Amino acid sequence: MTSILMVCLGNICRSPLAHGLLESKLPPDSFYVDSAGTANYHIGSLPDQRSIAVAKTHGIDISNQCGRQFNVSDFDTFDYIYVMDHSNFENVLKLARTTFDIAKVKLLLDFDTTSQIKEVPDPYYDKISGFETVFELLDNATNFIANQLLR
Ligand code: 4NP
Repeated sequence: MTSILMVCLGNICRSPLAHGLLESKLPPDSFYVDSAGTANYHIGSLPDQRSIAVAKTHGIDISNQCGRQFNVSDFDTFDYIYVMDHSNFENVLKLARTTFDIAKVKLLLDFDTTSQIKEVPDPYYDKISGFETVFELLDNATNFIANQLLR
């Protein structure tokens, strides 16, 4: 089993979408996908209603996800940890214990070699159109990641 963790700040907008998208592209018998936030604001919460709605229009159901905070044991549980922006990157690295932990953490959009944008923008204070943009960035990046993992 290969385990992949998607990380953002709140675990209600971006990482639940990345989680649902990658999960939809990998066989569940050999891949485990989860998501977490670096902050503790939304522990136990559903994804943001706008993320749920945008995912639904693309045929992905993320309404069964539950917010949680990233913790140091995630370095042991997960093989790959993908973060949405540089701030998430710094927050996760602060908890790393070893160079093995550090090596697991990657900026998600670095995998989309066609994208000029290297950080997934935080859509929390944005309109629904911001969530649609985030979905498209994540859809493209998770295509690259799924292809790489399935090779
Ligand atoms: P996310 O977005 O990191 O994509 O889940 C946010 C969600 C909530 C907050 C910030 C960003 N907040 O400040 O509560």
